[in-house]
This record gives sequence, C-alpha cells and structure tokens, in this order.
Amino acid sequence: MKIAVIGSINVDLMYKIDKKIKNGETIIAKEYQILDGGKGANQAVILSALTNNVVFLGAVGNDSFSDNSIKNIKNKNLDSNDIVIIEGNTGLAIIEVYNNDNSIVVFPGVNMSLSTNDVDKFLDKYTDLEVMVLQLEISMDIVEYIVDQCVLKNIKVILNPAPAASLSKEVIDKVDFIIPNETETIEIFGSNNFEDLVNSYKGKLVITLGDKGVLFYNGTSPEIMDAKKITVSDTTGAGDSFVAGFSKSISENSTIKEAVENGTYVASIVCKCFGAQTAYEVLKRGNQ
Ligand code: RIB
Repeated sequence: MKIAVIGSINVDLMYKIDKKIKNGETIIAKEYQILDGGKGANQAVILSALTNNVVFLGAVGNDSFSDNSIKNIKNKNLDSNDIVIIEGNTGLAIIEVYNNDNSIVVFPGVNMSLSTNDVDKFLDKYTDLEVMVLQLEISMDIVEYIVDQCVLKNIKVILNPAPAASLSKEVIDKVDFIIPNETETIEIFGSNNFEDLVNSYKGKLVITLGDKGVLFYNGTSPEIMDAKKITVSDTTGAGDSFVAGFSKSISENSTIKEAVENGTYVASIVCKCFGAQTAYEVLKRGNQ
C-alpha cells in the first residue's frame, strides 16, 4: 500500500522580524534562512518521516535552486527520480515570520507546468496507491485531472485546498476528505458557520483553526480537538504537517478522530522548529 503526494516544491526564503513592515519602510530582520518548502514537498517530506510508504511527484526548474531541491527530496527518503525538471524557475516563497505567525508570498514557477503526461507516468509507475494527497499550488486543471484518475482507480483523495481558491462542486463531491483552514473554508463554501458546514459535509470536511484546534465530525456531532500547548518557533508548514499526520492515519484505516489526533501531534512538533521541513529528523526518530 502506498500514499502519494502530488504538489509543489518551493525554496522558502524565511526571515524573522519583530514588527510589521509599513509601506515605504525598511526594517532589520532578526534571523534569515533559505529552507526547503512548498506545500506538496512539505506534506511528502513529513509523511516520509512517518512512513516508508510514500511517493511524491513534483517539479523543479532548471535554475540555481533545482539541484538543492532535488537533493533535499533524496535526503528525505523520497525517490528523486519522480521529480520532473522543467525549463523555468523553481517555485519560490518569501516568508515573513512575525509574532508566532507568518505571511507568505509564493511565486509558483514550474509547479504550474506539471502536466497530465507527468501524472500519467507517475500513476502508471505506482499501481498500488491507496491514498492521494493534494494541495492547490499546482494548476487547478491538473488537480481536477488527478482527482478524476483517482476516482477511476479507486484511490482515496485527501485535498488540502491551500492556498485559498474556489473549488468546483464536482471536485468537492469526488474527494474523500477536504482539509481547509478558516480563510480557505470561507473562500470555498462562502460561509463562516463552520459547525454547520462540518455537519453538512459529515466525515468529509475537517477545518483547521490554527491555535484554536481542529473542527471535525466525530460520527455523532461536530467536535473541536484542541491544539497542543507548545512553545511555537514558527507556524510555517503547520497545516501541511497536520495533513501529513492525518493522511498517514487514514492510510491505516484509523477513525477521523484518531487521524485528527495524529495530525495535531505532528503539527505541534513541526511548529517547535523553524521552517516547514526541519522537524523531519525529530519525527523520524520518534517513529523508529
Ligand atoms: O505551507 C507552507 C508553505 O507554503 C511554505 O513552505 C511555502 O513554500 C508555501 O508554499
């Protein structure tokens, strides 16, 4: 049995600041790092720390960043032969970490050029997939194509609709789980009555609420699982790591509540580290 992730690879340019920048202002950052990121890669890497059963399809450009990104995939126990090299720029994210939260600007680069042909090759190679994990940093056409292929092949789809974008009713109907945060939920469903939404999409919709926890349907009613009380270093990748922990549990046929519990735990470890993938070793050790 295998879990697949198809999604973005980015280079994260991260800096910590202690005040918000105003228009026209220059401020001094407290810390600066270039780290591996991209919602797809983050989910695949964190899953790879939790299980050997994960494969990943993503794209890098032919620029100065691509070698490091491919090396990172290899070092994280994922098959780098599945990474497609496309002429153009590797995805880049500028991440401002401020007051235990972050703001991100993403330039998607070649993530948007992943093609149906790349997807077909990947799906032909891995014929034993049971769970597919997707986000929205690749083109919506490709996301819709993958969802259709998964329906045909009887592969469960876990969709993390991030960054926020509108989704067709068909996609929402076809996926097994959809995991947005608050902003994404409002964008997709046009409502901030989260409990009602979770009730209407029983067992499908799981809403991450940041430090307020996670709202899900427990089989009888909507329930909030509290976030773990931790000292946060950086929340970059919190949602991604929740999705990774959740997906691993779903691939093992756990209940939604168990999957939410595992996602919450994994996200808490990731938030203790600076960067979206730096908790890889800690999680891997914890899983041995
Ligand atoms: O979810 C966090 C990720 O969003 C970062 O790694 C960044 O690359 C952006 O894609």
